[in-house]
Parts: sequence; C-alpha cells; structure tokens
Amino acid sequence: MTADPTIVRACAKVNLVLRVGAKRPDGYHELVTLIARVSLADVLLIDTATQTTVTCPGLPGGDTLVTRALELLCEAAGYDEGFTVHIDKRIPHGAGLGGGSADAAAVLRFANDLLPTPLIPSELARIAALIGSDVPALLHDEATLARGRGEHVEVLGELPRAYLVLAHPGQPLATRDVYAAYRPDDRPLPRTVALPTTLDELVNVIENDLAVPAEQLEPACRAIRDELMFAGALAATVSGSGSAVFGIFPTEEEAETASANLVYAKWNVTSTLGIR
Ligand code: C5P
Repeated sequence: MTADPTIVRACAKVNLVLRVGAKRPDGYHELVTLIARVSLADVLLIDTATQTTVTCPGLPGGDTLVTRALELLCEAAGYDEGFTVHIDKRIPHGAGLGGGSADAAAVLRFANDLLPTPLIPSELARIAALIGSDVPALLHDEATLARGRGEHVEVLGELPRAYLVLAHPGQPLATRDVYAAYRPDDRPLPRTVALPTTLDELVNVIENDLAVPAEQLEPACRAIRDELMFAGALAATVSGSGSAVFGIFPTEEEAETASANLVYAKWNVTSTLGIR
C-alpha cells in the first residue's frame, strides 16, 4: 500500500472536428478527429492493493473500461498484485464526452506510475487502443488529432481559451447505433487539421459528421443545438456520437446565462476548453 491514494481528474472530451469515412472490413469507420479536453472531470482515487477492485457508485455494473484497463496493464507489466480505484462520476454516460474512456486512460497513466517497472508510453498507447477507439487520444491532456479508428494520435498543443455549455437531453445514445445510422458522403477525409490558435479559427473548424445521425436518433439534440445558437453560441454541435451537445461562448458570463436558460436539456453544465 502507498501512503495516500493518487487523486486524478479524468477530464471529458469534445470532438471539435469529427469526419467519418467509409466502414472498413474490420467493422470500424476510418475517421479524422480533433479532440479537445474540457474541465468537466470524473475524480478517481487510485492505490496499490493485493487485488483489483473498482468502485463507482451510481454506475450499475461498475466501470468496465477501467477494470479492463487494469487487467491489461497488470498483464503487460507482469504485475501480480492489483489496484483499488474509486470513481466519482460527473461525466454523463452515453453522451459522447468520453467519460468511460477518460477514466480508463487516466488509470493507465497513473496506475502505471505506481508500478515497480512502469510501461513505456508506446506500450501504454498500444493497450489503450485495445480498450476503445477514444482511449489513445485521452492519454494526453493537450488537443490531439486522431486517425485510423482513433488509434493514430498526434499531439497538437494548447487551444485558445473558450467557455462551453455542455448539455444533453437526458437519454444516452449508443455509439454503435449512431455509427450504424451514418451514411458517408463522397467528400474525402482531410489529411490533417491544423490546431486553431484563435477563437475565430476554433469556431470555424467545428464540424461533426455524426451530428446528422445523432440528431435523427435523438431529435432533442437538434433542439438543444438551436437553443444554444439562439442564446449566442458562436458554434454548437453534438460531441462525438452524442447525445451531449456543446456550444462555444466567448465569455464565462454568456455561457452561464445560456446554460441557465436551456429548456430542452435535462442535464447541463458550463465548462472551459482545456484542463484547468
Ligand atoms: O472502439 P469503441 O468500442 O469505443 O467503439 C464503439 C463502437 O463505435 C464500435 O463497436 C463501432 O460500432 C463504432 N465505431 C466505428 N468506427 C470507429 C469507432 C467506433 O464504427 N472509428
């Protein structure tokens, strides 16, 4: 046992850009995505123990991605003891905000640091890709560009400051259902996406191919997007496969006023872009 557990904030993500191509023979879609972390976070307590236990009050069945991350980490490191992880969930499930993936990535990073012989970053990235398509990008705090099915990750750096409203209709959307409802068009995927360095560039880059199927499956996503734009958002769209929608505001005050006045959202918070 270490003296005190490691306390970690596992920050949610939004996809500022999500371009989705054709389905590949392995069943996944080729994609290009610009992923940004936001300040909304789950809080994890991680400690070494003789065997692994994961507790996550309020999440029926516990956090399976975290359990899988610990199994793969211990196996790869040849570590025959385990970890206790307690998760205080604040990121809603099935929202496209990467909650489960962020928890798994945080556990990989910080439980790894507690090992007698930690794995090297490339080995952690390999394990992350086995857990889920979003997990490799969420090993990083900075904005990242992810390609392939999400496993090829390039760290881009810090984004300009912006204030977000994160909102969703109360019902989760299953990622696989949204991908299954997606019909790719003929536009080729971009080879790269440049890191936006100003608020204008940030607002102009926003695009999500999964917004159409997500809004078809959950029409309240469209209503929330319209509400956010009406409330003065510079841009608003579904995050990932939804059902969360994010709006970008230039000031904290404007974000808070918009958040307070939403009618269609069953859940909403204000947050900042980046980990602060
Ligand atoms: O990798 P992950 O388990 O998070 O993916 C969940 C589901 O999302 C997959 O089973 C697949 O249906 C869909 N998906 C996809 N293409 C991707 C990523 C996810 O079709 N690049």
